[in-house]
Amino acid sequence: MRKVLSLAAFAAALTPALGAVFGYNSGAQKPGGVKNQADYENEFRAAKALEGAPAGGFVSVRLFTMLQDENAGNNPIEAIPAAIATNMRLLLGLWASAGSAKFDRELEALVTAVNRYGDAFIRLVDGISIGSEDLYRNSASVEEGSNPGANPQVIIGYIQKVRQRLSNTKLKAPIGHVDTWTAWVNGSNAAVVTACDWIGMDAYPYWQSTATPNNAIEQSPRLFQDALDRTRAASQGKPVWITETGHPVSGRTWGQSVASVENAKRYWNEVGCPRFGKEPIWWYKFQGDQVGDQPNFGITPPGQLTTKPLFDISCKPAGSSSPEPSPLSTGHPAAGGPPVSSSLSTSSGARNSPRSDVSTSASSTITDSVTLLNGTVSATSSSSPPVTNTNGAGLTAGSIGGALVGMLAAIVAV
Ligand SMILES: *[C@@H]1O[C@H](CO)[C@@H](O)[C@H](O)[C@H]1NC(C)=O
Ligand SMILES: *[C@@H]1O[C@H](CO)[C@@H](O)[C@H](O)[C@H]1NC(C)=O
Repeated sequence: MRKVLSLAAFAAALTPALGAVFGYNSGAQKPGGVKNQADYENEFRAAKALEGAPAGGFVSVRLFTMLQDENAGNNPIEAIPAAIATNMRLLLGLWASAGSAKFDRELEALVTAVNRYGDAFIRLVDGISIGSEDLYRNSASVEEGSNPGANPQVIIGYIQKVRQRLSNTKLKAPIGHVDTWTAWVNGSNAAVVTACDWIGMDAYPYWQSTATPNNAIEQSPRLFQDALDRTRAASQGKPVWITETGHPVSGRTWGQSVASVENAKRYWNEVGCPRFGKEPIWWYKFQGDQVGDQPNFGITPPGQLTTKPLFDISCKPAGSSSPEPSPLSTGHPAAGGPPVSSSLSTSSGARNSPRSDVSTSASSTITDSVTLLNGTVSATSSSSPPVTNTNGAGLTAGSIGGALVGMLAAIVAV
């Protein structure tokens, strides 16, 4: 007798595998404003020309909003014409934590882009994310009121609305949601998984200050792999895309994880290299932000755009010209994402900021990260500062994850 596929499994079976994608996260802001088409074009060209890049270099950019101006109008983000001009693929994002009226504007901007740019745009779209770390920000792990998120029913409603609205357009890209690994392993969010074609996981061992035994850099491959394994276990057979991960090149020490160029290189080699060119992954991030004391995750420095990374990104062993054997020792990097910065969440900052690191810390606010395009610092929202609860003492999503891991370990031990 033939088994009847569950609807979810059937939907998953209909979603073509994306294959490997080597991409990065890009916020919409720059110092003093938002990036315009020229800013995006310059950034995309630099990202594609990055010296020593593995897997043929970056081919896709993840965005956090469809709106060029979150405060007015429904004009599509100018990253779209820039992507068309530079042949950069896109993982689109609709900001979903600012209420239904704003979400409707996000959707109108997407439809406007489809109508305005047609196939030149449609062919570049790897996927569409309805929201970013909204469940994480909505969870008990994030300080109340610090950074509004959205609950599972709201996200599901938005997903259905987008599916319906796009059904009579030519844009057929797979629709999913991006959240921290801690949100995906939370059974209360299972219905969101069911509603998605794919799920995007943000994971940052750096933010997992409560991990057992600790979150020092040497634990990163294991913590990341654990987050990925657990997210896959909760994925209902849907593809899991790694939508955010990385390690800061500078900034404060979080738990026992030290932000340094040396550790960022080690994380790249041990967590990134084994996966680049093999599965969908959007690194956090290409160019560093420099806002306050937030950790800087850029593999290139803030300021003038450069094609020279801060460390050797070739994935080759030092002093060798042959491909590096996968150093995935124990595990892969784990999950924690940068915490959502507590300040920006809601409106402007949040939506553009790529604070997908929610996985780890609960409260990271989406602070705008500053990306310097021409020597000017642009605040890209991509880097999210750790979710510090109010005074920096708060729970990080990572801590929550660590606590869960600890509980699991205890159960296993019993
Ligand atoms: C689990 O998810 C639900 C629904 O999103 C949320 O209300 C709850 O706070 C989450 N639990 C934790 C521990 O984050
Ligand atoms: C970069 O330079 C261009 C041209 O001078 C300018 O239009 C743009 O605003 C600059 N970007 C930043 C971030 O300063």
